[in-house]
Amino acid sequence: MLFSLFCAFAVAASGVHAAGVRPGQIKHLVTFGDSYTDTVSTGDKGTAWPVYAAGYSKTTLHPFARSGATCSNNITFRPFPPVFESQLPLYFTETGNGSLRLPAGETVYTLWIGTNDLGVNSLVTGSNNASVVDVVACMVDWVRVLYKSGARNFIVQNMIPLELTVLYAADSYPNRFWAVERNASDWSVLMREMVLSGNALTKLMLQALAPTLPGSHIAVFDSHSLIQDIHDRPALYLNGTVPLNVTGCWDSCVAPVGGGDLVCTVQNGTARDSYLWADELHPSEQSDRIIAREIALTLEGKRSRWSTWLN
Ligand SMILES: *[C@@H]1O[C@H](CO)[C@@H](O)[C@H](O)[C@H]1NC(C)=O
Ligand SMILES: *[C@@H]1O[C@H](CO)[C@@H](O)[C@H](O)[C@H]1NC(C)=O
Ligand SMILES: *[C@@H]1O[C@H](CO)[C@@H](O)[C@H](O)[C@H]1NC(C)=O
Ligand SMILES: *[C@@H]1O[C@H](CO)[C@@H](O)[C@H](O)[C@H]1NC(C)=O
Ligand SMILES: *[C@@H]1O[C@H](CO)[C@@H](O)[C@H](O)[C@H]1NC(C)=O
Ligand SMILES: *[C@@H]1O[C@H](CO)[C@@H](O)[C@H](O)[C@H]1NC(C)=O
Ligand SMILES: *[C@@H]1O[C@H](CO)[C@@H](O)[C@H](O)[C@H]1NC(C)=O
Repeated sequence: MLFSLFCAFAVAASGVHAAGVRPGQIKHLVTFGDSYTDTVSTGDKGTAWPVYAAGYSKTTLHPFARSGATCSNNITFRPFPPVFESQLPLYFTETGNGSLRLPAGETVYTLWIGTNDLGVNSLVTGSNNASVVDVVACMVDWVRVLYKSGARNFIVQNMIPLELTVLYAADSYPNRFWAVERNASDWSVLMREMVLSGNALTKLMLQALAPTLPGSHIAVFDSHSLIQDIHDRPALYLNGTVPLNVTGCWDSCVAPVGGGDLVCTVQNGTARDSYLWADELHPSEQSDRIIAREIALTLEGKRSRWSTWLN
């Protein structure tokens, strides 16, 4: 007791910050992930959350996330640029040749991955020999690898309740992402179990990792609870000009079973901000603005209800 009190005073006196980043500290935001975070091929068909987050927090954005990505193609292969074999190598090339210079203390690194790893043509369809355990171990490795290269501040965004997306909902319809016959209620149950256990494991593994990385600050951003709350209490978040909609999407396309021409219903303009989902798999731009607002608070060293600094 006395010893820990002494330590607490020693830490305070030496000015070492206990948990999280300080207000004004962060000037750079470096993002890794998939189409949820890609700023060019955007999942929401609008402006991606990192652009909003950098604007809100007055930080400079360095975007590495790419649409279609998984954490590692060694684990869950998809023909897209994964975090480990494409996004990180590009980052290390740019920092190595001096074209990207990022002071560690002024930089936060984010990772939001898992949707494709767990999704169609991967875990949910039994398309590889991986498990959610492998996927989570890979996410946590991302912290380890960047830390080893000098990075210190991290935000790991957990997986959203994918069973609420149209693609993985029990009452789904054949769509552009999956038009082959399937048992939608089976998928929905499996997705929910994989996401919940994966997120619990992510938190536990990061809690175990954090004390082994001196000087690091690692936050878990609870995308899962945030998206669930938008789903449950949409009036607090959605602000479009048509009735609020958390089950459908503004770009909804029904496919004939077995594939063929899509039949689409598309909302335009301010109506889109009434939707939780942009299409059958992606959060809408308004959902992304909310995510950006909360990430920005975290970058600014302020409190966000959805972020927890582990150290
Ligand atoms: C992927 O596999 C290659 C070849 O076996 C290996 O060099 C690389 O380290 C692996 N990457 C990861 C993230 O496991
Ligand atoms: C550094 O590497 C990046 C990525 O390959 C490349 O685009 C850039 O031109 C390189 N810059 C220098 C100074 O070599
Ligand atoms: C999974 O493992 C089995 C047994 O080792 C192998 O026959 C199969 O080809 C593997 N499947 C994939 C998609 O790697
Ligand atoms: C789909 O799976 C559910 C269990 O998740 C089962 O109750 C139902 O009978 C299955 N439907 C078909 C058409 O196989
Ligand atoms: C939500 O949007 C979908 C797709 O446009 C539509 O089919 C559905 O009727 C809407 N639901 C409500 C409650 O408005
Ligand atoms: C949205 O715009 C497209 C293209 O102009 C149009 O086909 C569609 O009917 C519009 N949607 C609504 C709900 O008005
Ligand atoms: C909804 O709110 C966001 C800020 O969160 C704002 O940027 C957007 O323009 C609003 N949408 C509408 C249709 O008013």
